[in-house]
Amino acid sequence: MAASPPAPVTEPLLELRGVRTVFRTGSGDVPAVDDVTLELGHGRVMAIIGESGSGKSALLRTILGIQPPTARESGEILLDGRDLLTLSKKARADTRGRLVSMVFQDPMTALDPVFTVEEQLVETLRRHLPLGRAEARRRALELLELVQIPAAASRLKAYPFEMSGGMRQRVVIAMALACEPALLLADEPTTALDVTVQAKILDLVREIQRERRMGVLIVTHDLAVAAAIADDVGVMYAGRLVEYGPVEKVILEPGHPYTRGLLAANVLPGQQTRPRSIPGAPPSLQRLPPGCAFAPRCDVATVECWERQPPQVTTGPGTWSRCLHAQELVGVPVPQAGLRPDHPTPTTPRENSRVRT
Ligand SMILES: Nc1ncnc2c1ncn2[C@@H]1O[C@H](COP(=O)(O)OP(=O)(O)OP(=O)(O)O)[C@@H](O)[C@H]1O
Ligand SMILES: [Mg+2]
Repeated sequence: MAASPPAPVTEPLLELRGVRTVFRTGSGDVPAVDDVTLELGHGRVMAIIGESGSGKSALLRTILGIQPPTARESGEILLDGRDLLTLSKKARADTRGRLVSMVFQDPMTALDPVFTVEEQLVETLRRHLPLGRAEARRRALELLELVQIPAAASRLKAYPFEMSGGMRQRVVIAMALACEPALLLADEPTTALDVTVQAKILDLVREIQRERRMGVLIVTHDLAVAAAIADDVGVMYAGRLVEYGPVEKVILEPGHPYTRGLLAANVLPGQQTRPRSIPGAPPSLQRLPPGCAFAPRCDVATVECWERQPPQVTTGPGTWSRCLHAQELVGVPVPQAGLRPDHPTPTTPRENSRVRT
């Protein structure tokens, strides 16, 4: 019998290798993103969590290619195998909207107050796709229906200021989805919304993402949001990824003291006890300590932690932590943490796993 052909290698949709973003400022260099390596498979959702200033937005802006000229970017950002950092400015701009698009935290920054929703959607569609005006209008209506805007036809004629915050964010999501990008970046997309609207928007993103097998990288400081939407979670601290893995593993059995601190600090629905904030503050990115950046705030840090950068320690299948004490932490319950991932643990092999022959 002939040998069966080798199993195909499933390329991830997005692969970051050693990505760094350093801003040049009057007071010195700011390494906002430092040596970030991760993989996002087709049809997967990854949440990036971390405190304010940890580099979450800087990471998304670097992937989208919208950093100011003061930013020096290095490493590799492979989208379907093509390194975005090697593209010309024009080729890079061409990917935005069409291959990669972004939903920003504040819908008003993405919408122009002087144009109607229809004008803005039609403009976005026609910039990237060979559509006539009538066809683009029809697509605009379909997009508003896709994001479940009631009375979509009349909303097309509205100006952004005539809509509620939740409706505006739906329009922004519709714009981001207009050209059916393979990768959607979402920077705190629901932070400005109240909790019920937030839940509806997250459900919507998840539903559309599943239907289109889109990859989503979502930034949030809220673990409940990550638990509700993500398959995988990356935890960022001082510009670096410090823990990474499937959401249920990272949230239920964190292997980094910082993740544990975030969990204990999170306010959860129905929680009886007061959340405990992480003592101290994140370090200045311009004066990072020589060892682990979290050591000054960490209750399990030892002398070694202050002296050298922690290596990446495997804490389970597909899970790692940059902590010398990771193995001791995994499995130790986190006080007050009662989060549960909102969706079932995947039972099929991870879509981004590589089959090597
Ligand atoms: N254009 C810039 N020039 C100089 N420094 C910058 C620039 N953009 C971001 N930074 C710095 O990079 C660091 C990371 O910022 P970033 O906006 O990515 O944080 P974040 O994790 O998104 O925080 P937040 O949760 O508050 O949105 C901060 O110290 C910030 O001051
Ligand atoms: Mg941000």
